[in-house]
Amino acid sequence: MVSKTPRHVAVIMDGNGRWARQRGWPRSRGHLEGAKAVRQCVETCLELGIEYLTLYAFSTENWQRPKEEVDTLMGLLQRFLRDYTRDLAGRGVQVQAIGRLNELPRECQDQLEKAIAATAGNKQLTTILAVNYSGRTEIIDGVQRLAKEVASGKLRPDEIDTDLFSRFLYTHEWPDPDLLIRTSGEMRISNFLLWQVSYTEMYVTPKLWPDFSRQDLVDAVAEFNRRQRRYGGL
Ligand code: IPE
Ligand code: IPE
Ligand code: MG
Repeated sequence: MVSKTPRHVAVIMDGNGRWARQRGWPRSRGHLEGAKAVRQCVETCLELGIEYLTLYAFSTENWQRPKEEVDTLMGLLQRFLRDYTRDLAGRGVQVQAIGRLNELPRECQDQLEKAIAATAGNKQLTTILAVNYSGRTEIIDGVQRLAKEVASGKLRPDEIDTDLFSRFLYTHEWPDPDLLIRTSGEMRISNFLLWQVSYTEMYVTPKLWPDFSRQDLVDAVAEFNRRQRRYGGL
């Protein structure tokens, strides 16, 4: 029985390529299966009453991959949004996106904008897609906007504190993640939500993302329940 549900779960969905390679299949097949696991994950979040789900779908560093793979990922994102938005809207899911979205292919931006518009105001679960996202560029984008406000005299340097700075991040509307899940066993953050995870509980599972099931999320939440969060206190 889940007693204390994290309000915000963030996921580094990793291991699609390894999942495919283990079966002798192309990496693209792993990404396709990964998209199915995303649907399962959203459904489980709804079931568990999680309020915010942030999914790391594509990092700014992922452009370094072969063009074919990048195209597959962008195509899958569009397809996912096109095929699933109506269902998400019907279930009370609000879709949001973070990252340098203006650098995405035009069709991707259009699908994202449509999904965001079609699900605006929904309250059950906010699903935030991190696309062309990196924690460092998020901080730089925030610092640039902040510096403009200071330069124009709207803000004094001594007014800048952690609360104010948080309001300049892509994530300003949402609480920090309570639980960060990474699949496929890698013990690193890979430039995800660097500012926001300062006191987030981490959970790394060896399961590859396409295999991450309803039960895996239930297990992660159960583990979260066993944690004692101290925030530096006693
Ligand atoms: C995660 O799976 C999906 C993205 C990073 C877009 P990977 O593609 O990183 O799969 P592995 O880590 O190579 O197995
Ligand atoms: C992190 O996975 C990015 C996403 C899940 C979108 P990567 O596979 O890109 O990270 P590294 O290269 O293992 O650090
Ligand atoms: Mg990976």
